[in-house]
Amino acid sequence: MQIANNVAERYTRFARQEAEGKSELYVELALGVAGSEQLIALLAGLPREKQQPNLIFAAYRWLFGVPRGWDDFHENVIDRWDDVRNVALSRMTQTNEPGRCATLLPLLARLPQPLALIEVGASAGLCLLPDYYSYQFGGTALPEAPLDDRPIFSCNTNAVTPVPETLPEILWRAGLDLNPLDVTNEEEAAWLECLVWPGQEARAEQLRKALEIARAVKPEVVKGDLRADLADLAGRAPKDATLVIFHTAVLTYVQDVSEREAFSHHVSSLCPYWISNESPGVFPSIAQKLEDGGDDHPGKFLMSMNGEPIAWTDPHGRSVNWIETSAFNAPTPS
Ligand SMILES: C[S@@+](CC[C@H](N)C(=O)[O-])C[C@H]1O[C@@H](n2cnc3c(N)ncnc32)[C@H](O)[C@@H]1O
Repeated sequence: MQIANNVAERYTRFARQEAEGKSELYVELALGVAGSEQLIALLAGLPREKQQPNLIFAAYRWLFGVPRGWDDFHENVIDRWDDVRNVALSRMTQTNEPGRCATLLPLLARLPQPLALIEVGASAGLCLLPDYYSYQFGGTALPEAPLDDRPIFSCNTNAVTPVPETLPEILWRAGLDLNPLDVTNEEEAAWLECLVWPGQEARAEQLRKALEIARAVKPEVVKGDLRADLADLAGRAPKDATLVIFHTAVLTYVQDVSEREAFSHHVSSLCPYWISNESPGVFPSIAQKLEDGGDDHPGKFLMSMNGEPIAWTDPHGRSVNWIETSAFNAPTPS
């Protein structure tokens, strides 16, 4: 009974805090699931990490394409539950959202250049390429003349966000992931597209452009676990660049909060700059440094630098709102 309640709550929260305003179809599906005893019973039989709305909806689309609405979805899931279940069990969400680079950029641009970038939980490595994309921060375009065939990520800011004037200079880059995705593999690229929500065609188009860039640049993503294999990768970073280790939407997959805290101590010992862009509940010790304990920003990620809260960010990179009391004062690039 408790598991069923948790599934229903999870789908309602997804509808109200994540999908609303972004994908009306996913709001409809998620609320439908939350109210369906039949589907909740099926989902409750999956391991917790496989009950994720994003994963179940992507598994459905992998098999049947975009559903016309709740009735279509409900009927197919009931009829073909074993197929949906098998896709969910064999795949992980691994959403690779290059638009998140827009929220990292104000920090990256303020660090001593050039940078050596390590992304933990890099998926296909698309967030390792912030210097290859174009951005629109309110009225400011970066670079001034957007480059042909590059995705352009629009990102809202608040009055205190330090909108960058230049792209970071990246001397070296590498990622670490339990299951690196290969951008040249058509099936893996198609799975990444299934993870973009219906109604977000512009996001899908930006993803396709970013995948093209990744096929040409080939950022290295090493197979490994963030709990065991980060030190080796960090040891390979060039010494004449500022080492930055970052992650976005990753530590939430490490279930045990004490393991996350252990990671935060470990990563701090490996580099001068550690950027975390995660739900505020992922590192309670960071969120607790805020007056409201991070409770007033439903559906947003908390970006921090070296354990200090810096900004509230949209999970897909559409906004970066600096926290006025932000304790971090990065040196401006020389
Ligand atoms: C939701 S994706 C985010 C990808 C990318 N950071 C982004 O923001 O677009 C999470 C990624 O973290 C990886 N991951 C989860 N747990 C991990 C672990 N313990 N060690 C390394 N990678 C992990 C998954 O394989 C997946 O590719």
